[in-house]
Amino acid sequence: MSALFEPFTLRDVTIPNRVWMPPMCQYSAAPDGPGTGAPNDWHFAHYAARATGGAGLIIVEATGVSPEGRITPYDLGIWNDTQVEAFRRITRFLVSQGTVPGIQLAHAGRKASTDQPWKGGAPLTPGAGGWRPLGPSALPYNEDHPVPAELTGHQITEIVAQFADAARRALAAGFEVAEIHGAHGYLIGNFLSPHSNHRTDAYGGSYENRTRFALEVVDAVREVWPDDKPLFFRVSATDWLEEGGWTADDTVRLAHDLRAHGIDLLDVSTGGNASGVRIPVGPGYQVPFAARVKAETTLPVAAVGLITEAEQAEKILSNGEADAVLLGRELLRTPSWARHAARELGGDVQVPDQYHRSV
Ligand SMILES: Cc1cc2nc3c(=O)[nH]c(=O)nc-3n(C[C@H](O)[C@H](O)[C@H](O)COP(=O)(O)O)c2cc1C
Repeated sequence: MSALFEPFTLRDVTIPNRVWMPPMCQYSAAPDGPGTGAPNDWHFAHYAARATGGAGLIIVEATGVSPEGRITPYDLGIWNDTQVEAFRRITRFLVSQGTVPGIQLAHAGRKASTDQPWKGGAPLTPGAGGWRPLGPSALPYNEDHPVPAELTGHQITEIVAQFADAARRALAAGFEVAEIHGAHGYLIGNFLSPHSNHRTDAYGGSYENRTRFALEVVDAVREVWPDDKPLFFRVSATDWLEEGGWTADDTVRLAHDLRAHGIDLLDVSTGGNASGVRIPVGPGYQVPFAARVKAETTLPVAAVGLITEAEQAEKILSNGEADAVLLGRELLRTPSWARHAARELGGDVQVPDQYHRSV
């Protein structure tokens, strides 16, 4: 039996295999009107195809816990009940296909308020449908981005509560896994890194202070997210800076803390917080960061980043480098990648009855 097709149980949720879809923004929701931030036919078709294709877990894209927490005005959001209702259609279908529905809860921080990437992705001013981004410090991501408004202590408390409300709504929408987005230079990542966090209060300075916001969010979400359901955290394991950034050592330390605060799995990505850094991109280039967390802590991990081949994915698991793999762009190209991999490696994957003749 291939390791890739062994089920994985976290708390009371059993994920049928280790081929998972990571969060990938579609920037395709209505930017205004009653359906603002609600998934629509595009999202349904997109996620449904990966579920019928055999992905064991689908983590729905970064979903804003508030309007200001969106990367673009076209992002999904989970701050009202209309959105919850629209998500239900997707979670119901995923469950009907044996796929576990997950969702990434996000606040874009200082990289909020940009245009859709295929329109250039430039920052949008308030006059052009955007808004002033928020951050731990008044430090822009780069010279093209506006200076974010430095959050007050009161605003920080409000955002922690928004994450908890979002988790409550995600549960009502039928999700079984929630992931807190702590990666890629969005708000939680902005707090973690000394590169983007120059605060002098209890939320900046020492490692304990920079991780305070992340752990407060984790605690608030864990309190409303049921004990029988897993909670993930996505981290950028390094800023890829020579100095003055978040490091792999910090990540290992954070993994211990997250474990103690009730996180069940670390989804290990990298980068996105410091502009202009050189990243040695290549097949499986982020796997060593996941493997290190797995070796040095008791926290399960998922690996992501240019994992595209069945044998490659199988090896990551059988070498004990990760507990699951996330395939992003490869699943955009090949929605039924899990079925192809199961044929190649000799594993079992759920196939819709309607497609039975293609087994
Ligand atoms: C179109 C697109 C949208 C993405 N959106 C998100 C997102 O919402 N949240 C996130 O954490 N990562 C996001 N990512 C990063 C992916 O989850 C993944 O980590 C990355 O693509 C590397 O994996 P891959 O090489 O398998 O594509 C996105 C990537 C792509 C290509």
